[in-house]
Amino acid sequence: MCGSWSDVILRPMVPTLETRRLILRPLELGDVEQVQKLFAHWEVVRLLNARVPWPFPEDGALRNIRDAALPAVARGEAWDWTLRQKEEPERIIGRIGLYLGENNRGFWMGLPWQGRGLMSEAVIAVTDYWFDVLGFPVLRAPKAAENVASRRISEKMAMRVVEVTESEYVSGRLLTEVWEVTSAEWAAWRAANAVGSRG
Ligand SMILES: CC(C)(COP(=O)(O)OP(=O)(O)OC[C@H]1O[C@@H](n2cnc3c(N)ncnc32)[C@H](O)[C@@H]1OP(=O)(O)O)[C@@H](O)C(=O)NCCC(=O)NCCS
Repeated sequence: MCGSWSDVILRPMVPTLETRRLILRPLELGDVEQVQKLFAHWEVVRLLNARVPWPFPEDGALRNIRDAALPAVARGEAWDWTLRQKEEPERIIGRIGLYLGENNRGFWMGLPWQGRGLMSEAVIAVTDYWFDVLGFPVLRAPKAAENVASRRISEKMAMRVVEVTESEYVSGRLLTEVWEVTSAEWAAWRAANAVGSRG
């Protein structure tokens, strides 16, 4: 026997999710090498929170995944997935996560896969998970006002700007918009967009 009931009960489970084109696989330590290669690019990091170190160290992905992301998942404070295309499931193309606290959702897509509508699919899947499975009443996501692609995702998926402030990003101090959607707003948007992530 290789575990106990307490292991099963105490270890929060992050399920694999699917969209029409994507598999969202729970983050694991074995993802470090691919994430390091895909993430360490200026165009990926420049509008992320200044907690992301730049220049990105060679062990940056290892330290993030081993020391921060997986422990947060184990504490039940985060739900973190790598993104893969169904046609090539071993290759990581991006990452998405849900978090307790001030910023409830974060994501990035590797440069070769941007602009294909893939993150929009992943966002629908994890937002469904936030409201329908985890049962939270509201989702909030601060983002740089100049992050047009990320803003567009919020804008087209029923979110509203509830606060404008400034914060530190990898590329410096920038205007921040805090976007919000309630579970009722999300349910209404999903009902009106029935095809959604799986269609
Ligand atoms: C934000 C990000 C994840 C979007 O991923 P993506 O897979 O390219 O997103 P999608 O293809 O689903 O596009 C989302 C929307 O943004 C639009 N968009 C994408 N890139 C754009 C750009 N450079 N300029 C303007 N609009 C853009 C798309 O047209 C789409 O809108 P539409 O459905 O009305 O056509 C990606 O640009 C990224 O990884 N950026 C760097 C990391 C980052 O900033 N993460 C978010 C932090 S808040």
